[in-house]
Amino acid sequence: MFPTLNVILQTVLLIIGTYIFYHAVSIFINYRQNKKIFNGAKGPEKYHWLFGSFFYFPTDSHELAMYLIEMCNKYGSDQGYVVFWGLLGKPILAPSCPRITAKLLKSNEPKSMGLDGAYRHLYPWLGDGLLVANGEKWARNRRLLTPAFHFEILKPYMNVYNQSADVFVKKLAAQAKTNERFEVFQHVCMYTLEVILKCAFSYSEDVQTAGDSNEYVNTVNRITDAVTYRFLNPLMYFDTIWKFSSIGRQFKKDCEFVHTVAEEVIDNRRDALNEQDSTKGSRYTDFLDILLTARDEDGQGLTKLEIRNEVDTFLFEGHDTTASAISWILYSLAEHPECQQKCQTEIDEILAGRETDDLDWSDLSHLEYLTMCIKEGMRLHAPVPAITRDITQDFDLGDRVAPKGTTVIANIWVLNHMETIWGSDHMEFKPDRFSKENVDSIEHFQYVPFSAGPRNCIGQVFAMNEEKVILTKLLRNFSFRLDPSHTVKRKMSSVMRTQNGMYMFVEKRKT
Ligand code: HEM
Repeated sequence: MFPTLNVILQTVLLIIGTYIFYHAVSIFINYRQNKKIFNGAKGPEKYHWLFGSFFYFPTDSHELAMYLIEMCNKYGSDQGYVVFWGLLGKPILAPSCPRITAKLLKSNEPKSMGLDGAYRHLYPWLGDGLLVANGEKWARNRRLLTPAFHFEILKPYMNVYNQSADVFVKKLAAQAKTNERFEVFQHVCMYTLEVILKCAFSYSEDVQTAGDSNEYVNTVNRITDAVTYRFLNPLMYFDTIWKFSSIGRQFKKDCEFVHTVAEEVIDNRRDALNEQDSTKGSRYTDFLDILLTARDEDGQGLTKLEIRNEVDTFLFEGHDTTASAISWILYSLAEHPECQQKCQTEIDEILAGRETDDLDWSDLSHLEYLTMCIKEGMRLHAPVPAITRDITQDFDLGDRVAPKGTTVIANIWVLNHMETIWGSDHMEFKPDRFSKENVDSIEHFQYVPFSAGPRNCIGQVFAMNEEKVILTKLLRNFSFRLDPSHTVKRKMSSVMRTQNGMYMFVEKRKT
């Protein structure tokens, strides 16, 4: 009556075999079709049947960054894009001209959430926050969150940037006395984390001096490190392997911890708001106030989970990115004393006769040369090196049509280093590229450090203001010099980091 164990085993094996066969055949058919579509399209010739072009990529992240520039200049100059091959013969396109970049960024194509999709790694932490969400959910929340970046809300943050910058200056003043080199990235990161915690939910603790003893700060840092680790290790893309790895297990615990802290803060603030029935008190309006009071056309607010996701998204997008930008800009200024000095002269003129070196809102538009250096620094170093989309509709490249399912990478790093766009000196720091006379010749989608189109960076004005304030404070008080015995190596992850630190000497200025 009952099938024997043997029959059950044979049936299971047959089902598994059919499943594998079916997938192997469809992968093969897709691969053949894609090969046909991209026949004659330019890209690195060497590829592996399983790992595609990745198999031949340099394993060192710094060398990889340089290799991508070389490949895109070699193959993408005329064509406007370069074809790479991903896992199991999946085509990956990297636009290398403003036209195709514009087409991608103007579209509403979703963020890549597949096995190799970078945004998937952020999901357990950020959920459907603005950065990761797609479709209707994203559109509604973007509408609700836009008022949080209105200039009336951003203006009072000038005090936050200035006060936290004073703490940084104090720390560096002690450092200057030692005459020893210091690692820039970690200090800047503590500064930007403190700023975003204060602006997101009026976090009152002193992150920069507390350093390693603050559990929340340590946890956020561990989470961002874990995301970077997973991003750079394809084996960890498989959920089962990740969940059982020690970093994956710690990541889960850490996410639970920061979620609990955020939920407590949200509950407390909601209670306080109900009592006062107003967002105003003695403090400024922070992002959390806006999130709690936002209402859509139907009068619906955000749920606790949605608010938590947005707060965590601001924390992630709002501190690692700015830390990378500020550190690399400082790096270029330290490497070019003549540019550093020009910034200092401009800053000294603006602050002449003032009692403090605090910048006001109205000063921001007068920092012309510093702004040119900031823009050029973000071009040269691309704080967010790349963003990806999985296209859901056929995508016209001009000379052929990429099929839906193709991954398209807006590789900001590469775009900033195309010779056809920036000239053969693209690896040099030349702030004059962004001078009044030259800036008009920069095409709209040629320079997109904050992305562009509907999914551009909602925090770009916040970021530019923060960069101007901290760089002003630092350059007003100190001069910076690179440690000549240390060569900085890049590490490309969700933001541009370093593999081996960024060391400088700092000297107190006599102003
Ligand atoms: C120099 C600093 C920054 C850079 C270079 C930067 C760059 C970017 C880029 C390239 C994107 C597009 C990401 C994608 O399409 O996947 C983005 C999106 C985003 N950024 Fe920034 N960002 C910076 C600072 C900030 C700050 C300070 C905040 C918040 C306070 C922020 C919040 C966001 C959010 C929420 C998104 C998602 C927007 C959406 O999809 O609607 N960013 N950023």
